[in-house]
Amino acid sequence: MIRTRCEVLSNRRTGAYHSLTLVAPDIADRAKPGQFVQIAVPEGRETLLRRPFSIHQASRRGGWAGTLEIVLDARGRGTAWLAEARTHDVLDVIGPLGRGFSYAADLGSCLLVGGGYGGAPLFFLAEELRARNKLVGMILGARDHERVFKPIEGKRLADTMVITTEDGTMGERGRVTDVLDATLARTGAQVVYACGPNAMLRAVAERCAVRGIPCQVAVEELMACGLGVCWTCAVPVVGRDGRGWWNMRACVEGPVFNGSRIWWDRWLGERPAEPASSAPEPERIHRPEAAEVRP
Ligand SMILES: Cc1cc2nc3c(=O)[nH]c(=O)nc-3n(C[C@H](O)[C@H](O)[C@H](O)COP(=O)(O)OP(=O)(O)OC[C@H]3O[C@@H](n4cnc5c(N)ncnc54)[C@H](O)[C@@H]3O)c2cc1C
Ligand code: FES
Repeated sequence: MIRTRCEVLSNRRTGAYHSLTLVAPDIADRAKPGQFVQIAVPEGRETLLRRPFSIHQASRRGGWAGTLEIVLDARGRGTAWLAEARTHDVLDVIGPLGRGFSYAADLGSCLLVGGGYGGAPLFFLAEELRARNKLVGMILGARDHERVFKPIEGKRLADTMVITTEDGTMGERGRVTDVLDATLARTGAQVVYACGPNAMLRAVAERCAVRGIPCQVAVEELMACGLGVCWTCAVPVVGRDGRGWWNMRACVEGPVFNGSRIWWDRWLGERPAEPASSAPEPERIHRPEAAEVRP
């Protein structure tokens, strides 16, 4: 993990989002898809904590070598400040952090599912998978066309692409889960990689569990230290036999987890529309077995 002061090379609009390119050769060199950086925003009573962002691109070759790109949705104080960053500004960045996506050497075909800016880390993953001759299908979904992340670039990058918007302004009307089953059947994907709002990740992970397809999800949880010290980012996971559960830290053991092992009801709350399950709840155990919950 590296702490560095990075010059801002550019700040561009990408639909509803901002795309920041930073000069960060040491981080770019080590970054893996699914990892993230923490960026300090100016100090003040409400902005003491660094803000976490997925790595969208880490360039090691060509004209952009040594640069890192992140994508941000300006929604609160910290992201609004970053959205105003200008070329030659300097940011205090820590990274690469966390554990990213993994894949087997013999993987043939996979499906990447991104919701909103959650598509950003999946482009980095798609490039790596394509470079290893894997077949890459992609579903990008969002509320409206402005929030679909880089649809044109995505079509160039992926072997197959499906776009969904809730308001029907681009692609198919609906959510990514409405097209998931059909896309899985068409592409023959052996693994699903997903990033987006946690409720979307839960729905994707549950569909994959029903179909018996492994699913890796990159989650978002509040993070204070980002370094494994404070446990703000705890995500409850259940044991393989479904009997015990324990917390894992999204910042060091995640943010990528095996979607079938997250105890979604405990983490996000039970869906109000559904009656509580009559199955007995798992018992809490203390088992810091990061490796067991890895995909
Ligand atoms: C691993 C990871 C990767 C992420 N990747 C991206 C990305 O690529 N692009 C992007 O736009 N956003 C991403 N987020 C969410 C982003 O970190 C928050 O939107 C951001 O911290 C909000 O800060 P704020 O000051 O604008 O909002 P405020 O609401 O003012 O923030 C107040 C506090 O809450 C925290 N917070 C608020 N929302 C979130 C959230 N969703 N996740 C974590 N902490 C939050 C802030 O860090 C801050 O400490 C990611 C979060 C995580 C955990
Ligand atoms: S944010 Fe502190 S342990 Fe994860």
